[in-house]
Amino acid sequence: MKTIWILAAILAAAGALAQSNGNAENGKRLFLRDGCWECHGYAAQGSRDGARLAATVLSAPALVRYVRRPSGAMPAYIDKVASDQDLTDIWAYVKSLPGPKPVKDIPLLNEIKGK
Ligand code: HEC
Repeated sequence: MKTIWILAAILAAAGALAQSNGNAENGKRLFLRDGCWECHGYAAQGSRDGARLAATVLSAPALVRYVRRPSGAMPAYIDKVASDQDLTDIWAYVKSLPGPKPVKDIPLLNEIKGK
């Protein structure tokens, strides 16, 4: 009997962990389904219409808060459209994407700087 409770506790803990980390693969699907890419770009690289999200410095809860109440031109998403879990998965996805290259890795910019 005791083992069952221990097992249940382990499963609950694993579930909570999965939730707080988000599922990047599912996040990729939702990023496309929910239209985030239309403004933020396919690679979340940002565009004229939306900020860069790749390698975001936001925490998952901060991203969820922002999407619920954006400060600028972005439309708000209510939880019927994208649940907190959906957004946490999207967060895991964009967090996993590469950020901008450092200037030192862009040969042309170094040529200019060297002159
Ligand atoms: C219609 C265009 C549009 C769509 C669709 C859109 N966004 Fe945005 N988003 C923006 C713009 C523009 C900004 C820049 C600040 C602002 O105007 O709100 C932004 C900013 C953000 C930020 C803040 C970035 C930062 O570092 O401060 C997050 C996070 C974000 N969007 C997430 C999302 C997610 C997740 C989705 C899909 C569920 C999404 N956005 C869909 C236009 C969009």
